[in-house]
Amino acid sequence: QFFICHAAIILSLIFLKCACIGLCLDKCCPEGWTQSGSRFFIFFYNSKTWINTELSCIEIGGNLASIHSSDDSRFILGGHDGVQEGVWQWTDGSPFDFKSWGYGAPNNYTGENCLSVNWGANLWNDYRCYYRLPYMCSIRPVPRTRSGH
Ligand SMILES: *[C@@H]1O[C@H](CO)[C@@H](O)[C@H](O)[C@H]1NC(C)=O
Repeated sequence: QFFICHAAIILSLIFLKCACIGLCLDKCCPEGWTQSGSRFFIFFYNSKTWINTELSCIEIGGNLASIHSSDDSRFILGGHDGVQEGVWQWTDGSPFDFKSWGYGAPNNYTGENCLSVNWGANLWNDYRCYYRLPYMCSIRPVPRTRSGH
């Protein structure tokens, strides 16, 4: 189901809406969102720098999307190694427990600390964070477990 939604998103936003309405049935997503497991995803076509995409996602209650299996590796993502070079993290706080780097990536070529999907093969690439690209937010509608607070 979600794979079909994804294919549709790549084709066009119109297809996304059709896919959501048609395939995710009545309990689908809020308008524009696609459900996968416990999370909801939404894709934005307006290109922004990495930090501005993350801020946009936070504004609507989420983060840039993180990926945990090849099954859902498809969109602009919240991965970065901006805190420590070579140590990749997700902005939503989930563990970096899955990788789908494309050939040669990540290579930090002239300083690349942010993560995007290589659309050609659904593989990841590190890119320069100030480049403007479309992006994917995700939101988990249940409260996160907070330990030690
Ligand atoms: C990553 O690239 C930046 C900019 O070229 C450089 O300053 C930094 O040393 C590189 N880091 C590593 C681990 O190669």
